[in-house]
Formats: sequence, C-alpha cells, structure tokens
Amino acid sequence: MGRGAYEQNYTQLNLPELAIDAVDATPTAVALSSDLTGPGPAAVDLYCADNLALLDALSGPWAGTFQLIYLDPPFGSGKVYSARVDGAPGRGAQPVDAYRDTQDFDAYLAWLDRRLAFCRDLLAASGTLYVHLDWHAVHYVKVSLDRLFGRERFLNEIIWCYHGPSPIRSAFKRKHDTILVYTRSADYFFDADAVRVPYDPATVKTFASSPKAGFGKAPDLARGKVPEDWWYFPVVARMHSERTGYETQKPEALLARIIKASSRPGDRVGDFFAGAGTTGVVAARLGRGAVLVDRNPVAVEKSLLRLARLEPRPQVSLWRYFAHQAQE
Ligand SMILES: C[S@@+](CC[C@H](N)C(=O)[O-])C[C@H]1O[C@@H](n2cnc3c(N)ncnc32)[C@H](O)[C@@H]1O
Repeated sequence: MGRGAYEQNYTQLNLPELAIDAVDATPTAVALSSDLTGPGPAAVDLYCADNLALLDALSGPWAGTFQLIYLDPPFGSGKVYSARVDGAPGRGAQPVDAYRDTQDFDAYLAWLDRRLAFCRDLLAASGTLYVHLDWHAVHYVKVSLDRLFGRERFLNEIIWCYHGPSPIRSAFKRKHDTILVYTRSADYFFDADAVRVPYDPATVKTFASSPKAGFGKAPDLARGKVPEDWWYFPVVARMHSERTGYETQKPEALLARIIKASSRPGDRVGDFFAGAGTTGVVAARLGRGAVLVDRNPVAVEKSLLRLARLEPRPQVSLWRYFAHQAQE
C-alpha cells in the first residue's frame, strides 16, 4: 500500500466553527451533520480547546469522573510536527504544521506540570493516569508525578518498543517510549485477565516436555500470562490501515491494552492531548465513553472523521472553547 493511501479517508472538513477567530465565554457546542455522529451506544465528547483553559473551566464538574486518563503530550523534543491534509484539487494530501514542540525545556516542563496538576483530582477513586513520554523529559516528569500523586501511587513504567529507521550512527538507535502510570488510590482497578497474552512458544515447549519445569509450579498455559512492563507494537507508520496522516499518531493496539487493563465498559476515559483521536476511537470500540481535547482543528477533524467510520457509530458531541486569553 503506497504512502497516503488510507490517509485520504482522514483529510480535512474545514468546519467554519473551528476556523473562526472567536472568543467563547464557555465551552460552546458545535452542531454536527448526521454523518459525523451516530446512535451510540458509546458517547464521545470532542473539544477543540487549549486543554489548560478547558480543565480550568471544567475541573469542578469533571472531578472524580474519569476512570482512566491517557496523556500523550508533546515530548519536549524541540521539533515541529506535521499533518497531511487535502491539497488543491487533484494534488492529493499536503503537509501542514500540526503542532510545535519547540518551547525552551524548562518552560516546557512548567507548561506540562500545570496541566498534570489537574489530572489527579479528575480521576475516580479507583482511577489511573498514563503519561506517555520519551527520553527527553520522562525522568523530570517522573519526579513531578511522584510529588503530585505520592511515590507509593506509582504503578508501572511501561516501555513501548518499536522498530524504525534512524539516522543515528554515534549512539544506539532510540526506539522506545516510556509510559508512566499512577493510580489515584491504593484501591485501583486493574483487569489483568482482560490483557493476558499467550506464553512464548519456548515456555510452552518447556512445560510440555517436563512436569518438573518451573519447580513444579506450572503456569496455566491456556489462560495466557499478564504482559510484562515492556511492550512491542509496530509504530503507525508500518500500520497503513490505521494511518490518518497525523505525525505522532499512536497504534490502536497500545491504547487497547491500556484501556482494557484500566477501565470497564461504560467507564469514562479522558485524553487531553488527543491528536488524531486514537484513544477515543479505541475507547468507543470497547464500549467506553471518551472525552478528547486538542487545540488543533486539524487533529479534531481527523478524530471526527475517524470516529464516524466506527460501526456502530458513536454519539459524538463537538465542542469549541476558544478562551479569551491563551493560557500557557
Ligand atoms: C503527540 S500528539 C498526540 C497524538 C495522539 N496520541 C494520537 O494517537 O494521534 C500531541 C497533541 O497535543 C496537542 N496539544 C499540544 N498542546 C496542547 C494544548 N495546550 N491543548 C490541547 N492540545 C494540545 C497537539 O495539537 C497534538 O495533537
């Protein structure tokens, strides 16, 4: 499948309500045509907004309502990321700037801290926060989250490994991200059975060949094992069927494992750096409700188009909150 073949499904809607230079006193509903929203049962609230302004406005009503929050913020990489959208007629998809991750590093850490500070109180008592980062900032953010949640609420450091090309010749190729996991309380929800995976063929062979293997403690091979804290999933660049043309889009399989482990059907899942909407798409498919926030209209429109392709189509509510003062 050639580059961009599937991206044509997720180009651009150019919704005028997301393009206007407005100032909203409160989050404002944007009407959606019937091909962009469906009967449910899953419900998705999609906000085009700066997440800090929105969390500031809604932290009261949203307090304690999220079973799971997954955040995939800019990583502090110093780069500009692009999205592919419809070009002039006949020219196919063209890249546009999607978001800039170019703040001074200390300013970036303070910027992210202000957003993380809201998340703990949004979680239900049994809820869990996943923060997806890489080597640029993860060690600094770990310290912030330890302070915010308490070190004893740190549940896991998940290492997501992948392959891909890299120009690096003077160091090992940097091919993993780190996801920090914190729980709101000691009494958190975790469904190990929902995420079991088959044992390695070598392990199955060992136990099949000797009843004494494992010092007599044979695992339940048919049930599978709880995954380790290092995961391999191919990046979206290699998964053409998922590609929306939004750089930094995460694989659905990664989100599916997180959502299945840390929420139940009917729960509410939040993603306040939603990008192309991967969390919302997977949450809706798994029967969870979702709240997605992104300040970039291109990301919001790709999420809308992606949600509209689900079967059954979720009930999508689109909101705009262009707050008076851009908060940093
Ligand atoms: C790494 S991408 C998320 C990718 C997403 N997980 C996916 O699978 O497509 C980060 C997103 O955060 C958004 N973002 C950055 N700053 C934001 C802010 N202050 N408020 C809301 N969204 C923001 C960017 O527009 C970008 O889409």
